[in-house]
Amino acid sequence: LETTVIKIGGASLGGGADPVVAAAARHARRGGRTLVVHGGGSEITAWCRRLGIESRFRDGLRVTDADTADVVEMVLAGRVGRALAAAFTAAGVPAVSLSGKDAGLFAVEPLDPGLGQVGHLGRVEAGVLAALWGAGLLPVVAPVGPGPGGRTFNVNADDAAADLAAALGAATLLLVSDVPGVLVDGRLLPRCSPAQAEELIAAGVVTAGMVPKVRACLRAVAAGVGRAVITDGAGLGGDEVRGTTFAA
Ligand SMILES: Nc1ncnc2c1ncn2[C@@H]1O[C@H](COP(=O)(O)OP(=O)(O)OP(=O)(O)O)[C@@H](O)[C@H]1O
Ligand SMILES: [Mg+2]
Repeated sequence: LETTVIKIGGASLGGGADPVVAAAARHARRGGRTLVVHGGGSEITAWCRRLGIESRFRDGLRVTDADTADVVEMVLAGRVGRALAAAFTAAGVPAVSLSGKDAGLFAVEPLDPGLGQVGHLGRVEAGVLAALWGAGLLPVVAPVGPGPGGRTFNVNADDAAADLAAALGAATLLLVSDVPGVLVDGRLLPRCSPAQAEELIAAGVVTAGMVPKVRACLRAVAAGVGRAVITDGAGLGGDEVRGTTFAA
């Protein structure tokens, strides 16, 4: 069975009837194994503002102090993930929302201490996902989990999706966002090589949240994932997803 990891960006979750969820549900109903990973950056920023916590980013990654980590966990695992699980279930694909803390799905290893409680995936317990698939359930994963000292760590959702795709030997990684793919002078780049990606980052053409997204695609493909696509969901649920494709 082919595995597809679909990362749904917070930026693409508009509320209301969500076309991305509908398309991802169509994809899941086609068969194979589908895993959803979600972001929620804009909702985290909104809640931080309501709570008087400043949002700061470095290279597209959220600097996460202890208070911010609490907000990240509450918003991602408590709100965005549960809303997605409900939306998929309503679309006829029964779904379960879980974070790295549930059944030990994954552990988080810290990145640069200057980023605070931010890390990347360490150990992944793929059997947890296999059990859900075996029960006919779609796993919806919030990229937050346990790190050193029992503290809660935040993982960029693109990174988490790439590492899960690699750990699962996925055929396809889809990063769904609010843009059609990597844009250069307003035009969609259909394919991107590793060298081109580094050039676009160095030249400041690829910035902000697109930096971790592009790096996640490169890492996934280098780790054996068949292809990674940055997309707005065009064609998702049909025969061909359109966007910027990274392939080995
Ligand atoms: N060259 C580029 N082409 C397209 N988008 C770019 C480019 N450079 C920067 N961006 C920005 O990257 C954003 C997408 O990343 P962002 O992190 O904001 O969304 P997301 O990953 O879908 O959501 P979340 O982080 O909540 O999961 C786009 O909305 C755009 O503003
Ligand atoms: Mg992002």
